[in-house]
Amino acid sequence: MSYFDAASAAPLHPVARQALQASLDEGWADPARLYREGRRARMLLDAAREAAAEAVGCRPDELVFTASGTRAVHSGMEGVLTGRRRVGRHLIVSAVEHSSVLHTAEVFEADGGTVTQVPVSRAGEVAPEAYEAALRPDTALACLQSANHEVGTVQPVAEVADVCGAAGVPLLVDAAQSLGWGPVEGGWSVLTASAHKWGGPSGVGLLAVRKGVRFAPQGPVDERESGRAAGFENIPAIVAAAASLRAVRATAAEEALRLRELTERIRARVPELVPDVEVVGDPVRRLPGIVTFSCLFVDGETLLHELDRAGFSVSSGSSCTSSTLTPSHVLNAMGVLSEGNVRISLPLGAPAEEVDRFLSVLPGAVAAVREKLGAPSPRTAGREDTLVVDAIGKRCPIPVIELAKVFGDVPVGGTVRVLSDDAAARLDIPAWCEMRGQEYIGEEPAERGSGYVVRRLS
Ligand SMILES: Cc1ncc(COP(=O)(O)O)c(C=O)c1O
Repeated sequence: MSYFDAASAAPLHPVARQALQASLDEGWADPARLYREGRRARMLLDAAREAAAEAVGCRPDELVFTASGTRAVHSGMEGVLTGRRRVGRHLIVSAVEHSSVLHTAEVFEADGGTVTQVPVSRAGEVAPEAYEAALRPDTALACLQSANHEVGTVQPVAEVADVCGAAGVPLLVDAAQSLGWGPVEGGWSVLTASAHKWGGPSGVGLLAVRKGVRFAPQGPVDERESGRAAGFENIPAIVAAAASLRAVRATAAEEALRLRELTERIRARVPELVPDVEVVGDPVRRLPGIVTFSCLFVDGETLLHELDRAGFSVSSGSSCTSSTLTPSHVLNAMGVLSEGNVRISLPLGAPAEEVDRFLSVLPGAVAAVREKLGAPSPRTAGREDTLVVDAIGKRCPIPVIELAKVFGDVPVGGTVRVLSDDAAARLDIPAWCEMRGQEYIGEEPAERGSGYVVRRLS
């Protein structure tokens, strides 16, 4: 099996395993106690905090360990939003943040706050000017991820921190996907991260809050972790998280070059090997190990099963699965094809031969799914000027497949109106037009769902 889903969880780093085993025997006692065992546990915890703070680029007393990256985001956002309540109740987030940020924003909004979502480019990147324009006198907090978890696009965090800093607004950076590769540049105020993304054990998050940022921890108060993360610390896991962070940083520059070369190979080869594919995410400003592409006429979940059977564990932000019918919010915000989406995220040390084997297996896997779904082969004969395709009740990618099947039946200049009640068609039909060089005229209201009108140009 080849595990290519490190962006969800990286396999345990050997250094983490060693540190975990050693500290299970050394770090079990209560670090708040003054006897020998407690002092030993305290020493391990303090050393882990110092190592993690050094990797983050903050003071040890600015950093606490939480129970996950999600918990760090929730506590970080709620702490600042409450601490700066007097300034106002406005929050800025990007449209492609992790669900932990977006869910906190939803709760804040339901509680009377106002949220501005900053859009992204087709490559998934925010513009610092858009953050600047979103800032208001009552803005309590702005949030921006350091790099996107689905497509790997790296965000201009330092520039956004500058515009927020100039307005006196703290910026929370969710660095879950990038911290293993290096510290976050620029003047951030709050930073969060997650150890299982860099090969530490799961269940350890980092929350760093710069001195001077107004912060009011929420929930029942607890004396542990400066009152910012309640509950008895999992010291062995924390020690392993800090040790593995140090270890992955030591090889990060070299490994980044190697993985970048491999993901570059995937980026270049996939569109050559598989017809009707869109590689998404910024081609240059991206994390070394992540590459994402979408395949027209493909159901993402079925493709994942095909790849799993061929020995590849990958993930998908695809809309068109039987379990989730809404498009991935990230692909949606980017306005790219969401059908048949595959995210490859290579773990450290991923062998080049496995990447090559993936490239040899992929075309067959995609073809098999297309065949199962009855995807079209090109047609030529032209008859009617306007055709209506009724795809009501059919989930993506079926509406696009139906469109492609009849498209050859209208003459050049003629139109096809696809009726669909699947929201994913709103992304997938324009994306199909762009890939095929056809004109997307637009969306019209229909009795059920919408009509998506396409003109044949060639
Ligand atoms: C960008 C980003 N932020 C936050 C998280 C949440 O981290 P955790 O899985 O530790 O809760 C993740 C995990 O997928 C992530 O990718």
